[in-house]
Amino acid sequence: MNKYAVIGNPVHHSISPMIHGQFSKEFGLEISYEKILSPINGFQDTVKKFIDSNGQGFNITLPFKIQAHNLSKSLTPNAKAAGAVNAIKIKDNTLIGENTDGNGLVNDFTNNLNQSLKGKEILIIGAGGATQGILKPILDCNPEKILLANRTKEKSLKLASKFLKYGKVCGFGLDQIKAKPVDIVINATSASIDGNIPNIPNGVVEGALCYDLMYGRETPFMKWANENSARKVSDGLGMLVEQAALSFSFWLEKNPQTKPVIELVRAKGD
Ligand code: ATR
Repeated sequence: MNKYAVIGNPVHHSISPMIHGQFSKEFGLEISYEKILSPINGFQDTVKKFIDSNGQGFNITLPFKIQAHNLSKSLTPNAKAAGAVNAIKIKDNTLIGENTDGNGLVNDFTNNLNQSLKGKEILIIGAGGATQGILKPILDCNPEKILLANRTKEKSLKLASKFLKYGKVCGFGLDQIKAKPVDIVINATSASIDGNIPNIPNGVVEGALCYDLMYGRETPFMKWANENSARKVSDGLGMLVEQAALSFSFWLEKNPQTKPVIELVRAKGD
């Protein structure tokens, strides 16, 4: 049987086994996809055990995406640019690292939200690992420009200069954001986890599509965007399912349908 997994810490909350179960059903494939809790200091050993048990591929979630990048023998261009890996394929006992997060987000915009990124002005808030993973795939869609704003300004300046080779991206501090509407606002901070909203002017979300990379419920950012005349507001569930579909196709060379799975998760209220 084809054996896959997601490795993280914590990992109990992951709905990836359910998503991959639905994908494999579509193709009549029998695969196993388990959640593996790795000790914080034992990621490499956990991976070794999984390979020894005849595993063929796995996803990586927090906090191991950078370690997964460093452990990979070869990297796809997206994984290289992101400096992080969320999907590994095991081929002839070697690890090939991919990052499907950014293209998962792009596919959610284009396939599910009917929002093209080409020629658009996009404000990304946050300059951590999540932002690093999505910058190249978004820039590959030829937006007008990306405004990259972060509470700690130095981090957004540094990240912007690193990604300038892929397209137009400018770094700012949060306090420098103008109250002028943009087309798309992406919250890539971890503020929602603590029930907070990044401190940005209301005017910037007016008429914009506002997207929170978090999923599962209306985040404080989504609520705030709705109250401030955003055109459309979305959580990151579509991105989660789309990145899973790209991982599935990376391993098995089959492109599963995502819409029915997104609907199923929403209906279950996970
Ligand atoms: P991740 O891998 O999820 O991106 P991270 O690398 O720890 O996590 O980055 C978290 C991001 O959220 C950072 O950009 C952080 O801003 P700082 O660089 O200034 O720390 C941002 N962040 C977290 N809480 C925030 C808040 N309450 N307001 C604004 N930004 C916040």
